[in-house]
Amino acid sequence: MEVEIDRLDHQGRGIANTDKVTFISNALPSEIVDIEITCTKSKYNIGKVKNYKKISDKRIDAVCPYFSECGGCELMHLSYLNESKYKEEKIKDIMKRYAGIDNISSIIKCDKELGYRNKVTFKVNDKLGLYQHDSHNIVNVNKCFLISDNMNKYIDIINKMDLSHIYEVIMRESINDMMIIFMCDEDIDIDTSNLECNVVKAYKGSYKTIKGNNYIIDEIGNMKYKISPTSFFQVNKYQVKKLYDLVLTNLDINKSDRILDLYCGTGTIGIYVSKLCNEVLGIEINEEAIKDANYNKDLNNVSNISFIAGDSKVIDSINFKPNKIIVDPPRAGLDKKVINEIININPERIIYVSCDPITLARDLNILKEKYNIEKVIPVDMFPRTYHVETVCTMTRKALYI
Ligand SMILES: C[S@@+](CC[C@H](N)C(=O)[O-])C[C@H]1O[C@@H](n2cnc3c(N)ncnc32)[C@H](O)[C@@H]1O
Repeated sequence: MEVEIDRLDHQGRGIANTDKVTFISNALPSEIVDIEITCTKSKYNIGKVKNYKKISDKRIDAVCPYFSECGGCELMHLSYLNESKYKEEKIKDIMKRYAGIDNISSIIKCDKELGYRNKVTFKVNDKLGLYQHDSHNIVNVNKCFLISDNMNKYIDIINKMDLSHIYEVIMRESINDMMIIFMCDEDIDIDTSNLECNVVKAYKGSYKTIKGNNYIIDEIGNMKYKISPTSFFQVNKYQVKKLYDLVLTNLDINKSDRILDLYCGTGTIGIYVSKLCNEVLGIEINEEAIKDANYNKDLNNVSNISFIAGDSKVIDSINFKPNKIIVDPPRAGLDKKVINEIININPERIIYVSCDPITLARDLNILKEKYNIEKVIPVDMFPRTYHVETVCTMTRKALYI
């Protein structure tokens, strides 16, 4: 079937208006393509390009040979300038449509569009690979263009190992260290002789160091951070300082501020801002991350920060009255109870760091009753993929004091 692509959807897929809407990967607006329908649902189809009849002038050759099969990236076929425009428009569209917000700033682009990731999770079927889009089929890869040459070097080495009983291999890299985590479905021996880095074996939820340390140390600005195997850490090493500086600038921080850092991970943002304010409290559900956070507090000689290991919902019972709150939740966004508690606490300023604009818009729709949405800034933390981070600054409405 021949179709013309109308626009891109929020996942970077081309949209064609057929009998029902059809989503097509690797297809750009204005392109005319022959497609095969690979999946039909009640409200939409998924299609695959069989033949390109008219090519967009925004199309570039994907640098990655696996792009058409691998689900790791969605936008390798679009120039980075056009990718940035697409992401900015996407945030504008989502914010307008779902939250009635239209003061969106220009996107903060990433200086490096490749090799920026410090973490990758490979799936295993004898060899390392990544999932195809919307599928659990594994595409074996000898190189991933989003990670560093050093991490790529290990793909070959690991592919020569016996990978039976290993279902995932996670690589994490810091400024001068590296950790490989083998996720196992049996308590096997792993030959680490060719791996010149920290190696951890995970089996039934327990993480055992089998070479070197069970952590790496990374740096953001002047701060150092310990990262354990399961702790969250921002994945884009080139963009993270810009993200945290943006949080810092928009906090409008001063020496009397008491700041709550909700969803604090290893304490990164809280520690980053701690020297400029009175006190910080970080809350995070992952106990390992909180152990890292306490270690990071000492590593950076910070004395005015403390941490609670627990669900963000515990904010109704904490003995801490912040005047500013930073939230950086996972994609699910904020729980309704957490939003209500934030409104009860009534801070003068909220910075919301979000990796999912749809849940951000949903939450802003509630918060905007009590808070002015001062700025919504898209930040590209994930070049060549459809994902985009957003930093939103809110200030308390005068009437609500
Ligand atoms: C996007 S990360 C942000 C971490 C940190 N702010 C940073 O920049 O590195 C979200 C964090 O929220 C934590 N988390 C997820 N659900 C949570 C919950 N219900 N309560 C508290 N923390 C939660 C995750 O473990 C993760 O560390």
